[in-house]
Amino acid sequence: MQKDILCLAIETSCDETSVAIVKNGREVLSNIISTQIDIHKKYGGVVPEIASRNHVENITYVIDEALEKANVTLEEIDFIACTYGPGLVGALLVGVSTAKAMAYALHKPLVGVHHIEGHIAANYITHQELTPPYLCLVVSGGHSHLVYVKDYTEFEILGKTRDDAVGEAFDKVARVVGLGYPGGPKIDKLAKEGKVTYHLPKTFFENLDFSFSGIKTAVINLVHKEKEISVPDLCASFEDAVTDVLIQNTLKAAELVKTDKIAIAGGVSANSYLRSHMESAAETLGLKVYYPELVLCTDNAAMIGAAAYYNYLKGKVSPLDLNAVPNLKIGEN
Ligand code: KG4
Ligand code: ZN
Repeated sequence: MQKDILCLAIETSCDETSVAIVKNGREVLSNIISTQIDIHKKYGGVVPEIASRNHVENITYVIDEALEKANVTLEEIDFIACTYGPGLVGALLVGVSTAKAMAYALHKPLVGVHHIEGHIAANYITHQELTPPYLCLVVSGGHSHLVYVKDYTEFEILGKTRDDAVGEAFDKVARVVGLGYPGGPKIDKLAKEGKVTYHLPKTFFENLDFSFSGIKTAVINLVHKEKEISVPDLCASFEDAVTDVLIQNTLKAAELVKTDKIAIAGGVSANSYLRSHMESAAETLGLKVYYPELVLCTDNAAMIGAAAYYNYLKGKVSPLDLNAVPNLKIGEN
């Protein structure tokens, strides 16, 4: 029998300080997430400098808690992983510096992980049977990508947003209708009480790119022009239009790469309307849809540990002068 491989993974790319212990890439022994949402809420979004300072304050406690919960010692860890991009540079640096210091002091390999590759890998934890190749729709606060996952560490971008990310559009729409930050979960909930009544623009290109700034502006204009707005109906209409665009492009991409497996990943993959509509649209074409359990949709270190494991197996370890790369492109590591 092969020896188990234990990873200690760190994620600090935005406003979550998270540390996880992951066994063999797919088994989560602990996944501690210290969220800063309450701190940033009053500013209507993440304030980078405050995020970095909070990561510095929290990181050692979160590491201790993750080890304790997993009942694992530092000596038992095989390698250290961290997100090194994309994200907020000051926030990323806390995780990268901590991981480098640990790798150096403990004489263990270091594996730098691309944040989006982490989101994709969250699906391996929830779906033990999922293996590449498959198509993944990545929808988060900072990214909207259609990715062909050729192998565990091999990715091809088929389409991406030309302006706002989907989660960003959710957050901005929520702010303008007075729902606060983060907007996605609030719109998800309120839309269930509304009907699709507002006609909102949907943008399609000849290729598989996305654009969400038009629909966001249309919502903002409606709110400023109309005397009476039904916020639940507006949320339902916004969610429906965005979901339709995401599904149409995803199905086109699935046909292009000839796959019958579609995964969704990133914060917006928590959206109940997107999940159910993607599933029913795919089902009629005989395609299977995968999405992570809710806690693994938004930022967490377990997904970084899952992605790191496959890099580690391929010998893709990072040098100890690894730096944070705020605009890191997928597949570049
Ligand atoms: O992946 P994530 O935690 O951070 C980034 O890597 O960006 O995604 C956060 C985004 C936020 O924009 C948040 O509003 C959105 O995911 N989100 C949702 C839902 N839950 C989180 N959007 C729609 N419906 C949800 N249920
Ligand atoms: Zn994320």
